[in-house]
Amino acid sequence: MNSKITVETIRGMKARGEKVAALTAYDYPTGKLLDECGVSLLLVGDSVGMVVLGYPDTTQVTMADMEHHVRAVARAKPNALLGGDLPYHSYETVETAVANAQRLVAAGAEFVKAEGGQEILPQVRAIVAAGISFCGHLGMLPQHVLEEGGYRIKGKKEDERQRLVTDAKLLADAGAFAIVLELVTPPVAAEISKVISVPTIGIGSGPDCDGQILVTHDLIGSFPWFTPRFVKPRANCAAEIRSAVAGWKSSLDAVGR
Ligand code: KIV
Repeated sequence: MNSKITVETIRGMKARGEKVAALTAYDYPTGKLLDECGVSLLLVGDSVGMVVLGYPDTTQVTMADMEHHVRAVARAKPNALLGGDLPYHSYETVETAVANAQRLVAAGAEFVKAEGGQEILPQVRAIVAAGISFCGHLGMLPQHVLEEGGYRIKGKKEDERQRLVTDAKLLADAGAFAIVLELVTPPVAAEISKVISVPTIGIGSGPDCDGQILVTHDLIGSFPWFTPRFVKPRANCAAEIRSAVAGWKSSLDAVGR
């Protein structure tokens, strides 16, 4: 068996020029399967709200939701590094950020992730000081979709570029072991990846990040009602399910005739 992937393994991958392959998982069988496929990092993302729980966006996801799904994936005892998202409003103060990060760790997370840059630095420093590994998330921040009025690519304007680069440096200095870059323009994602020492993990941010993460449902086509433009699905699980159920149903009808 491969040795357990740790935060140090992920940091070392950047130094060795190895790409970090990361995917989301929200349940035991998916966590186990993806781990068997050898991904380096599994994230119980708050995207669980959209692709599993049927919410229109991630803003309604609760700590209880996150704990439930982190526990499920942790039962797979993955070799991959396992992280969980701090949901919206769960890290507004330093105290709640640390307490909620500790709840996710108690549920089985080996790191936590939260969205934002300089505005959450006190929370990031406190989480790291409490001995919990932290992953940043910059660019398009899904938890702010309602305030922003949509999912917009970040880094097109010079002030946005500067802010992203500064935020990435500040998060790394505050102790983040990796930073997710979501919907950041590819040149800006490449620039950030060059100037910070910790790995960037891109989603819809071009090929030059140190790793890539996708929502697994998008990759395998199991949430067919919406697929982000930047994802090329590698399977069509929804079609497989529909065809399996149709075949089974017609076999019942045939027996009844
Ligand atoms: O919630 C999530 O799944 C995420 C990833 C897409 C990075 O934050």
